[in-house]
Amino acid sequence: MKVLVATEKPFAKVAVDGIRKEIEDAGYELALLEKYTDKQQLLDAVKDANALIIRSDIVDKEVLDAAKELKIVVRAGAGYDNVNLNEATAHGVCVMNTPGQNSNAVAELAFGLMIMAVRNFYDGKSGTELKGKKLGIHAYGNVGRNVARIAKGIGMDIYAYDAYCPKEAMEADGIKPVGSAEELYATCNVVSLHIPATPETKGSVNYDLVGRMPKNGLLVNTARKEVINEEELIRLMNDRPDLKYVTDIMPVHNEEFAEQFPGRYFSTPKKMGAQTAEANINAGIAAARQIVGFLKDGCEKFRVNK
Ligand code: 3PG
Repeated sequence: MKVLVATEKPFAKVAVDGIRKEIEDAGYELALLEKYTDKQQLLDAVKDANALIIRSDIVDKEVLDAAKELKIVVRAGAGYDNVNLNEATAHGVCVMNTPGQNSNAVAELAFGLMIMAVRNFYDGKSGTELKGKKLGIHAYGNVGRNVARIAKGIGMDIYAYDAYCPKEAMEADGIKPVGSAEELYATCNVVSLHIPATPETKGSVNYDLVGRMPKNGLLVNTARKEVINEEELIRLMNDRPDLKYVTDIMPVHNEEFAEQFPGRYFSTPKKMGAQTAEANINAGIAAARQIVGFLKDGCEKFRVNK
């Protein structure tokens, strides 16, 4: 059995070593395709792979058509919007993710971005503190829970909205649940986005929603660029010169944001949230173990397609 790790944005070496050990101890072969720049390299590499570990790498019909021997794809991470689930199902391929394994890393980066923004991007002028400010967590999943844990240490007043999480679970964590996204944005000085990119959420963070934020509101995005309605956010930030936007996922309209909103906008050059050795080890080794469990015992825990 051949397991291919195909990562346009590679894992730390220590994580690859750990993945290799899991795969080779199970008696399988590991192949590596890192930092590829052309889709054809992926199409060639998947030809004889029985299992595939990816990150944000796109697995579409073309990739699945090329991967004639493929049985399983594990997205080492949380969001699997980069995998065409219907096509995978049609090709008889099991798709899994590794929920929670990189969530602390993403949550820590949300605070890195947040602090940078409230300190005016370190321009030497007086900024503000996070302590005592109202933080809105938009979606209370694994990353949202880690954000809440860190925010408690900072002393923030924490609110959350999640249509799929029971209010009681948030209250048990000492978080104030609100009844709608609109209420969350209207209440909070800082909103941290943790919604996945789905047909329902794409473009949903728009003029109306962000425009509800109080004066000097800060929007932090470590989720997905697709959830933002970029044209509307640009229009809003022109209408509301008090608002700031910081993101770990470079917008399609990055140049317009950067030109129009100096001192109020920042994007990392490359998505960095899950780019820590710890997160790479956790997610990469979990992916390898899930593959071994699937191939040896038929274990389908964490399967995300039907
Ligand atoms: C995830 O969905 O797990 C995060 O967005 C991290 O993605 P990455 O593996 O592409 O850094």
